[in-house]
Amino acid sequence: MESFIWASGARENCSTAAVAAAAASSLCGYGLLLNGLSLIPIWHYLLGLLIGSVGFLYNYLDFHLLEDLRSGFRGSTAELTYNPGSEIYSGVASKCRVIHGRYLTTLWLSCPHIQTIFLNFFGRPPSVSYKRQIFHAPDGGTIALDWLMSSDVSGGAFRAESSISRGDTAPIVVVVPGLTSDSALPYLKHLAFNTAKLSNHRGLGGVSVTSDVFYNAGWTEDIRVVLHYLHEEYPKAPLFTVGTSVGANILVKYLGEDGENVPIAGAVAIGCPWDLLIIDRFIKRRLVQKIYDRALSIGLRDFAQLHQPHFSRLANWDGIKKSRSIRDFDSYATCLVGKFETVDTYYRKCSSSSYIGNVSVPLLCISALDDPVCTTEAIPWDECRANKNIVLVTTKHGGHMAFFEGLTASSLWWVRAANEFLHVLHSSPYMHVQKKHY
Ligand SMILES: *[C@@H]1O[C@H](CO)[C@@H](O)[C@H](O)[C@H]1NC(C)=O
Repeated sequence: MESFIWASGARENCSTAAVAAAAASSLCGYGLLLNGLSLIPIWHYLLGLLIGSVGFLYNYLDFHLLEDLRSGFRGSTAELTYNPGSEIYSGVASKCRVIHGRYLTTLWLSCPHIQTIFLNFFGRPPSVSYKRQIFHAPDGGTIALDWLMSSDVSGGAFRAESSISRGDTAPIVVVVPGLTSDSALPYLKHLAFNTAKLSNHRGLGGVSVTSDVFYNAGWTEDIRVVLHYLHEEYPKAPLFTVGTSVGANILVKYLGEDGENVPIAGAVAIGCPWDLLIIDRFIKRRLVQKIYDRALSIGLRDFAQLHQPHFSRLANWDGIKKSRSIRDFDSYATCLVGKFETVDTYYRKCSSSSYIGNVSVPLLCISALDDPVCTTEAIPWDECRANKNIVLVTTKHGGHMAFFEGLTASSLWWVRAANEFLHVLHSSPYMHVQKKHY
């Protein structure tokens, strides 16, 4: 009651002051203030608003140009997490210069969102032409294996040697791509340019899906049969595996499930989601992440519709068409097909973070702390430190699978880091050798 009286009294005073606005002797502070504010040119307000919004967006979208400037454009060093007794660190990773050096983002991409968007729309990929091999899995599924030989990219005059023979000892790198991505994706071309082999997820890259098995983030059977097939076919060639994004989750889960019994010599996991439940919660929190959620769900929906004939009996198509988020999609498709009781059950069971302890091959993991999709909250620091086979590299910047570097954004930092690690591992005594034979 008291404050009401005070307020109305103040208003009365004010209107009196407004009438006598010209008189500087007025005692009403608000009137004076209003009068003063109206004397400031409108464009000063607009300028202030502009500066304010730029500052807000700079922070909200995690731009880091000023930070790069403060570092004298030298970038920042990556943080390495490993077990103090790890021979994979002392014998292999410690000799890798890229992960011990600095990473500086391409100046005009110094924001994780801009990097990630640029990667997906332009990406500046090297020109790469694969040779496709169709692999028929024992369960009737079809997997496309897109091969790229080192002779294809070296530009040499000898193009005759374009296939591998049984006794070849040159290593083969098998790439496990991410969600709805195939070998045409820019970052995979960047990677493939330096490697020998790319494998596509079943049904991706334009190959028709012929089994009733639907893609999901925990489906390790495809990579298992492909790796065993390649090992049978080329028993002398060391097999390396690189998993990217959701493909990294599948890779780490597979390495944990099969432990010692994997036919591969070493592996690299880039931009791994690690914990799907945490990612699910994270991606709903802020507007920026919701945009990614929406964009990814559109990709999944289009993928599913492309292969609808094979799944018509299995999923809820009305639901899939209405999917607005990855979670919607997973509840209408992935869960029904993979026979999971709930979406959270699926996320819990398929998260690679709970398989880390059983990984028995040298594994390099690279994650960016500003990854806008695969949040740092999901990074399993303790589990990685506990396993002597794992070296975890976290960079301050990089976005999701981007890590552009150089003024012209022509190369990706993680591609260099992964290749160097595999190269050093290949010439070290620490390559994993499968103990049990099938
Ligand atoms: C760990 O790896 C072994 C093979 O080395 C495998 O038999 C076992 O099932 C794996 N454990 C888990 C929890 O996946």
